[in-house]
Amino acid sequence: MGDMERPRNIVILTGAGISAESGIDTFRDSGGLWEQHRVEDVATPEAFERDPNLVLRFYDLRREAVQAKLPNFAHEALAILDAQWKGELLLVTQNVDDLHERAGSRRVLHMHGEHLNAWCTACDRRSRWTGPLIDRPACPACGARALRPDVVWFGEMPYGMERIYAAIRQADLFVSIGTSGAVYPAAGFVRDARECGARTLELNLEPSQGSVWFHESRLGPATDVVPEWVAEMLQS
Ligand code: OAD
Repeated sequence: MGDMERPRNIVILTGAGISAESGIDTFRDSGGLWEQHRVEDVATPEAFERDPNLVLRFYDLRREAVQAKLPNFAHEALAILDAQWKGELLLVTQNVDDLHERAGSRRVLHMHGEHLNAWCTACDRRSRWTGPLIDRPACPACGARALRPDVVWFGEMPYGMERIYAAIRQADLFVSIGTSGAVYPAAGFVRDARECGARTLELNLEPSQGSVWFHESRLGPATDVVPEWVAEMLQS
């Protein structure tokens, strides 16, 4: 960190860019998911009401696909940081894959939900789910055939906002990795963190929509820039 005082409390925000090199499509890059599918058709509560089979099938395919992918050096570097960092650390991810956990990260918050969870709209319980939902399996907790993907759709409230804002208020450093800064509230975290006095750093392939808000931007593929940054953070 040069001659800067070493930050103790870190909030890290990750987006689809960190999983791109694991072979998971991002949303807004060319060829990304939102070029192949209209958000309104597959990622809103209205879409689910209108055509549940289309939505369930879309998420069944994604759920199956992520299980065949592996964490990359960027996920692994963040897991090492998590294991070794003595101060507070919260890894807030917009990603619904489980690559952070599979790399070994423990302090993870999935603000947009998780592919590998099913949410029962009858009893409100969440169950770990790796198979399809299209055939309307019974909820393991209550037996109702009312499971939906536990993924936050457009128009729904992201998870864990109170915990996230509490961590941002305590943060000395806010780092954003592989996210385009197009979707709120996550896109606003950098400004919140700055207002609370944190230093802000962006690691991304290209400048994001919120680049101007960061004190520093380092551009490059996540598997290069993230391990480099983590090594810097851990050197005494
Ligand atoms: P986006 O697809 O909007 O942005 C991905 C970002 O990652 C872009 O800025 C890319 O330049 C960058 N990127 C691509 N490859 C990279 C690499 N190898 N290394 C580093 N950066 C790379 O994805 P998100 O910002 O995550 O929400 O999207 C935010 C939310 O929008 C998602 O959580 C999802 C989506 O709609 C919901 O579904 C609720």
